[in-house]
Amino acid sequence: MTSFWAARYGSTDGYLFGTAPAQVLVENPGVIVPGQSALCVADGEGRNGVYLAGQGMTVTSFDAEPLAVDRAKALAAERGVGLTAQVSDWDGFDWEAGQFDLVVAIFVQFADPTFRARQFADLRRLTAPGGVLLLHGYTPEQVGYGTGGPSDPAHLYDPAMLTGAFGDWHILRLAAYERDVQEGRGHSGRSALIDLIARRP
Ligand SMILES: C[S@@+](CC[C@H](N)C(=O)[O-])C[C@H]1O[C@@H](n2cnc3c(N)ncnc32)[C@H](O)[C@@H]1O
Repeated sequence: MTSFWAARYGSTDGYLFGTAPAQVLVENPGVIVPGQSALCVADGEGRNGVYLAGQGMTVTSFDAEPLAVDRAKALAAERGVGLTAQVSDWDGFDWEAGQFDLVVAIFVQFADPTFRARQFADLRRLTAPGGVLLLHGYTPEQVGYGTGGPSDPAHLYDPAMLTGAFGDWHILRLAAYERDVQEGRGHSGRSALIDLIARRP
């Protein structure tokens, strides 16, 4: 399932998506509460999990690709922060293990609509009552840019879809916008993005 990602990560000795956090995390510091728990799903090479750990959160992360998780652990060690990073496929993760104060899902659009319904249900369940979900990805307009993300528009998000999935939560931010992104070789150039930040009641 992850041979595509194995090849992508294996194509470089460096960090495919860079070592700096996604801009959405830096621009929304209100989601970060030192001492609270965070889960970064499909966290790749750990740029986001390591950033949150460096801000004082207790971070768990997983990704299906072993090379990426090795890099996440190396980045955490280099930065001197604790990160509980594990190799796990989405469906292999222990979704009953507990809940988190912050759940971060950044560029996890590998899911087709059927998988995405399961993904969103898992994200809802893993966010503690009163906790926050931060979801960040591309809108269908991204297909025209070709600067990152899946080429199948069925994998991408729009505001109505996210309102449909999380409209019963307190939506703190829902924004679709375009900007130049420089997040490693993997995400580079003009991009059509969408952010959802929502608090579970
Ligand atoms: C676009 S990358 C984003 C990585 C990271 N969230 C970031 O923003 O740097 C997508 C990630 O999803 C992971 N992935 C793909 N399919 C997966 C699955 N079924 N279960 C878990 N991770 C998966 C890939 O290995 C890859 O690291």
